[in-house]
Amino acid sequence: MPRRRATPAFKTDPVPENLLQELLELATLAPSGYNLQPWRFIVVRDEANRKKLRAAAMNQPKVEQAPVVIIACGDPRAWQDGDMDQMLQDGKKAGFIPDERVAEAIRRGGSAYLKSVDPGIWVTRQTMIAFTYLMLAAESYGLDTAPMEGFWEDKVKQAFAIPEPVRVLALLALGYAQPPDKKYGDRFDLERVVFEEAFGRPWRVRAPA
Ligand SMILES: Cc1cc2nc3c(=O)[nH]c(=O)nc-3n(C[C@H](O)[C@H](O)[C@H](O)COP(=O)(O)O)c2cc1C
Repeated sequence: MPRRRATPAFKTDPVPENLLQELLELATLAPSGYNLQPWRFIVVRDEANRKKLRAAAMNQPKVEQAPVVIIACGDPRAWQDGDMDQMLQDGKKAGFIPDERVAEAIRRGGSAYLKSVDPGIWVTRQTMIAFTYLMLAAESYGLDTAPMEGFWEDKVKQAFAIPEPVRVLALLALGYAQPPDKKYGDRFDLERVVFEEAFGRPWRVRAPA
């Protein structure tokens, strides 16, 4: 049984600053489509702000208890507002993009693709990978975490000056669990969630050749 649980209650013990910084750096190592990194994280530590966030998060007490809560946002337009340029510049500097011709091809291909997809799905797809990196990195460093979707997006946006068209995708409380932790709720068997070759077709472990 995995050790990580969605922590129901937190102690007030603070998260060391250097650890928090390292976790945020690890989160930003997540992959993203065209390496466009549309995630934006708001670190909430201030007591009054945690109270404000709790009110916007369906009054969940852990939002106020945990010493740190991260508001995970995604900006579906950031690629048009400078992030595409920054990514290409970084890629050239790092030696991944050899020249301007390749950069232009990425820009053209990327822009056409991004204009063809649902921006909400796109930004959620990318941001939740970084969110998961952050959660698992925190757990691997001995912190406890609680992911949350129980919040009113409009209220969170208003309280934390989050502009349109940025989406608020999830909250992550970080800190140290106040025992007792909750019990493992089990998971579906693979037969229920894994298919083979077509949706609904049962997956079977193959006998070794
Ligand atoms: C994206 C996401 C949103 C969640 N939102 C909430 C929430 O708002 N409040 C809450 O108490 N738990 C929330 N949970 C925790 C889940 O209920 C929990 O992960 C699930 O029951 C499995 O339990 P475990 O993570 O301890 O194994 C959320 C989990 C995820 C992944």
